[in-house]
Amino acid sequence: PRPILLTRHGESRDNVRGRIGGDTALSEAGGLYAKKLANFVEKRLKSERTASIWTSTLQRTILTASPIVGFPKIQWRALDEINAGVCDGMTYEEIKKNMPEEYESRKKDKLRYRYPRGESYLDVIQRLEPVIIELERQRAPVVVISHQAVLRALYAYFADRPLKEIPHIEVPLHTIIEIQMGVTGVQEKRYKLMD
Ligand code: G3H
Repeated sequence: PRPILLTRHGESRDNVRGRIGGDTALSEAGGLYAKKLANFVEKRLKSERTASIWTSTLQRTILTASPIVGFPKIQWRALDEINAGVCDGMTYEEIKKNMPEEYESRKKDKLRYRYPRGESYLDVIQRLEPVIIELERQRAPVVVISHQAVLRALYAYFADRPLKEIPHIEVPLHTIIEIQMGVTGVQEKRYKLMD
C-alpha cells in the first residue's frame, strides 16, 4: 500500500485576517508548519524514491512545500482554492453585511451555491477529476498540499463520504491526513503537527 498525504498550506496572512481567497504568503506560524511538514515528509517517505509533492499554483501552498527537498514538485491549477469570484479577499462578516442575499443563498445550499463570477463546490469537484485520475494511477506516495475546499472534496472521494457532506467536512490547518489504499480498503491516520 502506498500513502497519499493530504494537507492544507500553512496558515497564511489572509487566514490570520479572516479573508477568503487571495494569494498571500505564510504567517509566522504557517512558516513553522512548513518546516515541520518537511521534517515529517522526509522521515515518512525516506525509503520512497519516487514520491512527489503536488501543490496548487498559489503562493501559500508553494511556500509550504518549499522546505521539502529531494522530491519532485508539481503545480496544479486544479488544486487552487475555490474561486470566490466577487467575494475574493472579503471576510465572511463583510459578505454578510454587504451582500446579504449571497450570504443567505450560500448558507442554504453551500454545495451548489456559486459565487458571482466564481465557483461552487460542485465546480471544484468537477475540476478535480483529472487530479483524482492521476492520483489513482500513481504507484508512489504523493503529498498533496492544497486548500480547505479542495481537500474536502479530495478527502470525501477517498473516504467515500456523501456529496452533501463535502462543504462541511473538517480539514484543520497544520494537520496531515494520511490515506492508505490497500486491498482491504482505505485506512486513515491524522497527524497534528502543531496547534
Ligand atoms: O477560502 C475558502 C475556504 O477555504 C472555504 O471555506 O467553503 O467553508 O467558506 P468555506
